[in-house]
Amino acid sequence: MTLKKVLDKAKKYLVTVIMLAALAAAISLFIMAMTFDGTAVALRGISVFSVWSIIYLLLIMQYVYLLNIKQNDRTTIFVEYTILFIASVLCIVCLKLFNIYTIPFTLAALLTVTLLNKRIAIINNLILAGIVIVSYLSNPIYAQSASEIVIIIVRMCGGLLVVFAIKSEYNRIQIIGISSLIGAGVAVFSMLAALLNYRAFIDLIIIWAWVIASEAAGILIVLCLSPILEWVFRLNTNFRLFEYISFDQPLLKEMNARAPGTFNHSLSVSYLAERCAYAIGENVNLAKAAAYYHDVGKMQNPEYFVENQMDGYNPHDDLIFEASVNMITRHTEIGYQMLLSRGFPKEIANVAREHHGDSPLNYFYIKAQNITEGDLDSGDYRYNGPRPSSKISAIIMIVDAVEAATRAMGAHTKEKIIQIIESIINDKLKYKQFDECDITLKNLAEIKSVLATALEGQYHTRIMYPEKKES
Ligand SMILES: [Fe+2]
Ligand SMILES: [Fe+2]
Repeated sequence: MTLKKVLDKAKKYLVTVIMLAALAAAISLFIMAMTFDGTAVALRGISVFSVWSIIYLLLIMQYVYLLNIKQNDRTTIFVEYTILFIASVLCIVCLKLFNIYTIPFTLAALLTVTLLNKRIAIINNLILAGIVIVSYLSNPIYAQSASEIVIIIVRMCGGLLVVFAIKSEYNRIQIIGISSLIGAGVAVFSMLAALLNYRAFIDLIIIWAWVIASEAAGILIVLCLSPILEWVFRLNTNFRLFEYISFDQPLLKEMNARAPGTFNHSLSVSYLAERCAYAIGENVNLAKAAAYYHDVGKMQNPEYFVENQMDGYNPHDDLIFEASVNMITRHTEIGYQMLLSRGFPKEIANVAREHHGDSPLNYFYIKAQNITEGDLDSGDYRYNGPRPSSKISAIIMIVDAVEAATRAMGAHTKEKIIQIIESIINDKLKYKQFDECDITLKNLAEIKSVLATALEGQYHTRIMYPEKKES
């Protein structure tokens, strides 16, 4: 690894490292404040001030960090702060009404990781730890002790464990199971931490029960809150996406009945898009859902699309070229409107509208040129756009074209497949189709290699089984 790569990696994790160091410093300061008897009050004041400063610093830093990563991602920040607010209020109320063991600490981590992502969940968990420490320190009536500080740290680690343990493909039942297991572990460690204060056995059992109850309450609150927040902020959580990629979806059933060719093409696109999204670190379920519905607009006049012309009749033979182009290009806008009117997420609808960008329809353009004297306006033979605005849209654009081209081609040698993929991507680059999304040349190279491997596997020559000789 070169020095530049090491520096780049360090820069990438710099914010997280600074945040962790800052939190560690705050906790150390707090422990020190509790250790020195005479100066405890003054040091407590200093530590409360320090922890609050760090919380503000974390909030500002992540705001800047998030803005740098995703422009206009205000919803993410808003959802994150909403979760943080709810979790903080619940933790403070539990602390005031009951005790330190009852705070539903895992709530913030669990809610953030299911609604947003792991990175923000880690940050939220750390900020919540800071807020709990401040609340704990600010009130002198609490019997502050080493064991209770350790319990806050144990709870915080439990939250981090939840974030790392939950994977994007997990359903609600799996998430409940894993969180409950971690909660039970946290309860045992909290009980052990309480031993630092030489508690009676019955006290330890009560502490264990408090932690178990608070973890269970946290999971329950998450189960109730996550669908509400999903709906209010129209978030594309994996739970919501799972519903869209289920074959029970009425729109998918409708597409299968009215445009079976398009339905099969969409399934093939989804398989390839999923693999491409995984390779470049995009949301795999979103890619799959977007692929399922990208051509839903073809349902309006399915017979005008080649994959649905089962009986060999092509209605374009009876149309002038301009009418054919209009009939084909409008499926993007029809699909977009159809998905929006049925309440689909904007990201999925956008893919339906953007997956051809403003690429030309060379087939009709060349045909028209051959029978036209003089110049022909190429603008009349293009899709209406807009161009892909996200990496997922760009993936579907490439995969859609590659799937159709490889399906139509005769021989499927590795060289031929690679040649088709390269010529499609180069063509899209030539027509500036990726200029409005943040897909990189590195991403395109990864997509190229994933598609070549997947299609080669799909079309590899099948071994002919020998026929059994009749005796
Ligand atoms: Fe299409
Ligand atoms: Fe398509």
